[in-house]
Amino acid sequence: MTLAHAPGKVILFGEHAVVYGRPAIAVPVTQVQATARVEPGDAGQGVIVVAPDLGRRIRLRGAKDDEPLAHIVRLTLALAKADPDPDLTITVTSTVPVARGMGSGAAVSTAIVRALSRHFGYWLSSRAISDLVFQTEVLYHGTPSGIDNTVISFEKPIYYVKDEGWEVFWVGAPLFLAIADTGVVSSTREVVADLRQRHQAAPSRHSSAFDQIGEIVVAARASIEQGELEVLGGLMDQNHALLQRLGVSCPELDRLVSAARSGGALGAKMSGAGWGGNMIALVTEATQGRVDMALRLAGATHVMVTKVR
Ligand code: PMV
Repeated sequence: MTLAHAPGKVILFGEHAVVYGRPAIAVPVTQVQATARVEPGDAGQGVIVVAPDLGRRIRLRGAKDDEPLAHIVRLTLALAKADPDPDLTITVTSTVPVARGMGSGAAVSTAIVRALSRHFGYWLSSRAISDLVFQTEVLYHGTPSGIDNTVISFEKPIYYVKDEGWEVFWVGAPLFLAIADTGVVSSTREVVADLRQRHQAAPSRHSSAFDQIGEIVVAARASIEQGELEVLGGLMDQNHALLQRLGVSCPELDRLVSAARSGGALGAKMSGAGWGGNMIALVTEATQGRVDMALRLAGATHVMVTKVR
């Protein structure tokens, strides 16, 4: 049996603008994770992928090309130069919430690639894994920037620019982030496609918001490197206001963002595609309990605190 894991992630700054070439910052969230287990199956069964959490059981033989779980298995087997349909059962479980901006699709795909390549004794670099996972992100999200597969495969805080690359950067003082779930399921593909249409209808208005977000991301990186938490909190607030202007926030997210600020957070913003999913708040060890309470009273269905360093 071969077992492998992959974490979730949150975008700290720059979501949406990153699709249009501006930088973004994302961090792994290790409190949640996807797990893939590869075991020998019955003779002649071929590959069967079982995802009990999703109530799914997929036989590779005959699965459509646009089925993401089947697709990632085929890509990995091809790269590892393995039999295209070996007798294996792959069981996938995940504590990464689905459709909440925490990268559940990329986490599941990464865990599968890691487990399957290890099973065949085929070493893959983090970059190779990230590139493979990107191909399933296209199936999940349509036109992904590539930030999810990168931060999840490398498991490090990253400063990311689509088509240019990414850098790991120094975290001057640990960041405590409260991550709170609105409980509202949203589709990244839909939000990204909707913004694309609105951007095409009014390009200069949206480009100016993307530019301002890009400047905030550059400033945020400097603040993180220098450990200037007050400044960083203010930049989160500014980024949220621009995301509201882009029409990707929603009343539930706005309510949690306000509650976190009233509860003493240094700053707060939605995270990921929007129209639901999670928000993040910058807290300290001293304020995290109060902010957690404020978020729950404002309707958060789940709150976790992660430490970034
Ligand atoms: O909702 P998430 O975290 O999967 O991410 C969406 C982030 C976007 O910038 C909106 C899209 C992308 O591909 O980067």
